Order: sequence, then C-alpha cells, then structure tokens
Amino acid sequence: MDRIFSGVQPSGNLTLGNYLGAIRNWVELQNDYECIFCVVDMHAITQWQDPAELTRNTREVAACYLAAGIDPKKNILFNQSAVSAHAELAWIFNCVARMGWLNRMTQFKEKAGKNKENASVGLYVYPNLMAADILLYKGTHVPVGDDQKQHLELARDIAQKFNNDFGKEIFPLPEPMIFGAATRVMSLRDGTKKMSKSDPSEYARIGMKDDADAIALKIRKAKTDPHPVPDSVDGFEDRAEAKNLMNIYGALNNMKLEEVCAQYGGQSFADFKKALTEVAVAKLSPISTEMQRYMDDPAQVDAILRDGAERANAIAQPILQEVKDVVGFLRP
Ligand code: TYM
Repeated sequence: MDRIFSGVQPSGNLTLGNYLGAIRNWVELQNDYECIFCVVDMHAITQWQDPAELTRNTREVAACYLAAGIDPKKNILFNQSAVSAHAELAWIFNCVARMGWLNRMTQFKEKAGKNKENASVGLYVYPNLMAADILLYKGTHVPVGDDQKQHLELARDIAQKFNNDFGKEIFPLPEPMIFGAATRVMSLRDGTKKMSKSDPSEYARIGMKDDADAIALKIRKAKTDPHPVPDSVDGFEDRAEAKNLMNIYGALNNMKLEEVCAQYGGQSFADFKKALTEVAVAKLSPISTEMQRYMDDPAQVDAILRDGAERANAIAQPILQEVKDVVGFLRP
C-alpha cells in the first residue's frame, strides 16, 4: 500500500521555500494517498532552540499545514516527539547506518560549518532519525524539496541494509517525490543560495507570516540585475536572481517558466516585481491570515495534534514491535 510521510522542522521563520517545495504539494497529494504529515520537533533540537519558541513554532508549523489546506481528518498531523517510537527506531538505525554514509552528508557539513567538533551528535545522526520517521510507518513516498534528496537516498540505504542484514523484507525503499515549479527556491539576496529559515537576513526570504507590506518590501529589495526580463529560458546565464524571481512567479501562478518569459520578456524588473508582489500577496495573504486564526486558538491546534499522535502511534506500534522481534529483542 502507498503511504506518504513528510515533515517540516519547527525551527522558526517558515518560508515560501517550505511552502512551494513541500507543503503546497502535500495539499495536492492528500486526495490520492494515505498521508502522514509531521512537525519534526526532535529534528529541530539538533541545533539550539529556545524552549518557549520551540513550543510556539511547533504550533505554527501545524497552523501552516492547516491554513494551506491540509485536512486533519483525512490525514494524520502530529508532532514527532509525541510518538516515542520515532526515537526507538532511530536508535536501531544508528546501529545500521555506517559512519562513512553520514560523513558524506552535505547538509551536515553546511549546518556544522567550520566548527564540526562543536556540532551536536544529534545533528550528525539527523538523517537516521529522518529514515526512522518514514520507515516507522513503512512509508513508500516522500514529497520534499530538492535539498532533501541525499537524506532520502540514505533512508533507502538504511532500509535496504536492514532488510539484507536480517534477511527479511521488512521495509519498502521509499521514493522521493520532488516535483513542481519550485523544488529549490533561492534566497532573494543571493540567487546561488537556498532560501532558508536560518538565513541571518530577513530580506533573503519571504516568510509565511509576512503581511502584504513585508512581502512588497522584500520583493522590491530583492537583488536583480540591470537587464530587462529575458524573453526566453535561454536568457538566464549568470542571472540566478532573475531566474529565481521568475520561477517563484511561475510557481505561484501555475505557469511554466517559458510562459512567464513570454509574458514579461523585455519589461523592466521594476515592473515585473510589481506583478510578482501582486500574485504573492494574493496567494499568501489568505494563508497567513488563516495561520494567525489558528495561532489565536492554540487549544484547537493542540487537539488536532493530539488526535494525530494517537492515530500515528496506532500505526507505528505494531511496526516497531515487528522490527524489535526481527532484531531479537526479548519481550519479557
Ligand atoms: P526543512 O524543515 O528544512 O524543510 C521542510 C521542507 O521544505 C523544503 N524546502 C524547500 N523547498 C524548496 N526550496 C527551498 N528553498 C526549500 N527550503 C526547504 C524541504 O526540502 C522540505 O521538504 N529533514 C527535513 C525534515 C524531515 C523530513 C522527515 C522530511 C524530517 N523527517 C521525513 C521528509 C520525511 C527538513 O529539514 O526539512
């Protein structure tokens, strides 16, 4: 049976990248798959999180899922730490994954930066917990942005090695689903860098909580170049920022990049930015308003997450028990 699992870290500043690369695609997929959408709070603490902020951010990510149109009855929505089986399976996977595999993870290198010795051990084994998230439910499909590709390859390697080591086909090899016009939304300040929650500059990202004024200001200040909008997709050489803005426009307006070039080719970027602001405000403002409505009623969000955790746990427990039996853990 096909089953989707995906998640977002509650590490603050949810971005347009999270929405276009992941959450928006989930909204489409919920009609065709059984889906489990998680707020991965245990992943978030691999880097320091202020406790009160973490609680708030966890509700905020859930609020964004709901505001974007994820149906909490049809799907399972919960926060990772509420289902302790994630931590248990992650430990088993810590003993399956090889150091050499983790040493190749580019996201660890980026996040740990120059001072690797000072990174948390959790950050290093982060991909093992991610594999546990998916495989705890025997997840078959994982809709994510482009930056998670390597982690998903590792999840497949872990599933395969576990099956081989124990001589049983316990886990499926989960398939990445990386699709849509914006699998990699770039920073508004530097078109070679990913738009990220953790960028020190607020102007690098459009946030899911930004109001119309903030969106307009950030788009106005977004880096471009002195040339007009290209009239074909061949006109983007050395123009990463121009391409990114046009990609965002296309993604928000359900248009191919070719179509955006055909419509705006030859115009100034000042004019194009006005059109982009208009569509961004039209698409994002209803979501941020609805997010705020959920944030004003935390009890409602908590009730949804509690219900989701119970349903997630009901799927996870028999699978965890099967894994423990295969490993040989005694049931006293
Ligand atoms: P996170 O919280 O960094 O990002 C959440 C989702 O948003 C996508 N994304 C982007 N897509 C396009 N352009 C961008 N600039 C951009 N920035 C982020 C990410 O690809 C992701 O899909 N490790 C994961 C969370 C996770 C997970 C999982 C995902 C934990 N366990 C199991 C899937 C399955 C992460 O850090 O996502």
